Amino acid sequence: MSVYILGIESSCDDTSAAVIKDNVLLSNITANQDVHKAYGGVVPELASRAHQQNIIPVVDLAIKKSGININQLNGIAFTRGPGLLGSLLVGTSFAKGFSLASKIKMIEVNHLQAHVLANFIMEKNAEKNKPEFPFLCLLVSGGHTQIILVEDYLKMTVLGTTLDDAAGEAFDKCAKIIGLPYPGGPHIDKLAKNGNKQAFAFTKPKIKDLDYSFSGLKTGFLYFVRDSVKDNPEFIKNNLEDLCSSIQHTIIEILLDKLKIAAQKTGISEIAIAGGVSANSELKNRLVEMSNENNWQVYIPKFEYTTDNAAMIAITGYFKYLEGIFASQDIAPKARFEI
Ligand code: KG4
Ligand code: ZN
Repeated sequence: MSVYILGIESSCDDTSAAVIKDNVLLSNITANQDVHKAYGGVVPELASRAHQQNIIPVVDLAIKKSGININQLNGIAFTRGPGLLGSLLVGTSFAKGFSLASKIKMIEVNHLQAHVLANFIMEKNAEKNKPEFPFLCLLVSGGHTQIILVEDYLKMTVLGTTLDDAAGEAFDKCAKIIGLPYPGGPHIDKLAKNGNKQAFAFTKPKIKDLDYSFSGLKTGFLYFVRDSVKDNPEFIKNNLEDLCSSIQHTIIEILLDKLKIAAQKTGISEIAIAGGVSANSELKNRLVEMSNENNWQVYIPKFEYTTDNAAMIAITGYFKYLEGIFASQDIAPKARFEI
């Protein structure tokens, strides 16, 4: 018999709901929050208020679009953390209310685990290659940068992590320095396409093992731009595409240098990526090149499943449902929540 799971994601500034039938996605609806654009970053209080306004229409639409009835659902999966506490509370409270009213079991989901499992989302009538266990996943988002050893759907070990800023944060902060809107990652990606990645050289950090650091790079970029603007007030305008291309190239090199070491150390050649930054075109291109150079099998989720979405929460809920792992009404969200 098929399993139907409703997924709910509200960890940051996207309110999203999805319905999955086993591992096949039936619907995935996301309401973005434009309200933060004016502030250059996510404002937690505004995010939770917007989640409250969006959650009922988003869930309603996801269920309607899936073509199923509420009473067909076997589980309600929701993001327990990590994320903004006020935002997580909205999704968690909604899941609890829905579960009580409908007598459908709740399943708590770790948002980071869900980003990794986005690689297993299937679509109706579409073929897709899925990673084989064990595989390595480079998880790169606005809040996290990790190399994860994935031995099974629910068995993941972090091999390396950032000691300070995440890769997405590095993109967003560097973008802000050169006057690009928030979130800056996609803007840098677009402008970099017409730039020269060798135009400017930035120092890469020397961090031991498989860990990362991006705060020194960001500070180096800030000082370089500030000094260059002192000499030439038009510097940013005249070099915007080269600046984007050079900083993007450096961030991607830092990410992939460590991924290559992880693959060598573990002897694993199944490599996946996940998280918002995996939408980056240079990261995807370099990864494909590296797969040819190193004989890797590379897995890149579709764009809509890389940034925050409820489809990844629903598929994680599905795998937990199969293991009989459920949550009770006394569950509380967790702002910090390791994989
Ligand atoms: O996974 P995500 O949607 O949210 C978090 O859980 O953090 O990731 C958002 C991050 C932002 O920092 C955004 O700038 C970055 O992903 N991002 C990109 C691109 N698209 C999104 N960074 C670089 N290039 C992109 N094309
Ligand atoms: Zn995320």
